[in-house]
Amino acid sequence: MAAPVVSLYDGPEEALRAAARLFVTACDAAVRARNRFMVSLSGGSTPRALYRLLSGIDGGGDASGAVAWEKVHVFWGDERAVPADAVESNYRMVRESLLDHVPIPVSQIHRIESERPAPEAAARYEQTIRFAFDIDHDSVPSFDLALQGMGHDGHTASLFAGSPLLLEQRRLVAAEWVASINSERITLTPPVLAAARLLGFLVLGADKAAAVARALQMVAPDAQLPAAFVAAQARHVEWILDRAAADGRQAAG
Ligand code: 6PG
Repeated sequence: MAAPVVSLYDGPEEALRAAARLFVTACDAAVRARNRFMVSLSGGSTPRALYRLLSGIDGGGDASGAVAWEKVHVFWGDERAVPADAVESNYRMVRESLLDHVPIPVSQIHRIESERPAPEAAARYEQTIRFAFDIDHDSVPSFDLALQGMGHDGHTASLFAGSPLLLEQRRLVAAEWVASINSERITLTPPVLAAARLLGFLVLGADKAAAVARALQMVAPDAQLPAAFVAAQARHVEWILDRAAADGRQAAG
C-alpha cells in the first residue's frame, strides 16, 4: 500500500477542478490500458458539482470533452433503498448531473436496483459487477477509480462506524439497516473499495474537518472511522480536500 496522496486546495472550486482532472486522467489511463473505464461513483451532495463539471453543465467543457464517454462503465459505491426517481436516490443525482448529459451507452450504466428489497438488490448488483468484470465468486474486482465522499462522522459509501460490514471479506455488495440515520442502504464492501486502482476521496467543507484530521492522523485502522479504515487497506489513495475540510493547512496550487 502506497502512502496516501493528500492534495489541498484553497476553495471548493479548485478542489472540484482537481477532482475532474483526476477523473479524466484515470479514465484516459484505463482506456489506454484496457479500452474501458470502470468507475464507481459516490452519492451524497458533494460530488453533484463534480458531475456537473464533468458533464460540461457548469463550464467544465475541457473536462467533458476529454473523456471517452463511450468507454465509461458507471457503477455506484452505494445507494439508498429508495426508488430510482426518489429525491434521495444516488442514481437520480448522478443521472441528473451527469448521465443525462454525456453519451455513456445505457448498457454501461450499472444501477443498483434499489426499488427491490435491499438484500435482493445487493445480490443482483454483486452479480452485475461480477458479470461486468468477468470474474468468478472468489475474485474481487478492481475498479479503475472508486470515487468516494466522507461523512462528518467518517463514514464512506454506506459503511458506518461499528458496522459488521467493515469486516466483510466475502461479499462484494451488502445491504444494511443503518439505525443512526434511519435508512436502509446497499453498499460496496471494504475489499472492493480497497482493491480499486485508485480510491479517491473528495471531501469539502468545514463540517468534515474533524473527521479529515482524524483520518489523516490515524496510525492504526479504526473501525470507528470507516473512510480511513478502508483507505488503510487500499492500493492507492488520494484525498482531494479544500482548505475548510483540511482545517487551514497550506493549500496546493
Ligand atoms: C451517500 C454517500 C455517502 C456520502 C457521504 C458524504 O449515499 O450519502 O455515498 O457516503 O459520500 O455521506 O456526503 P456529502 O457529500 O453529502 O457530505
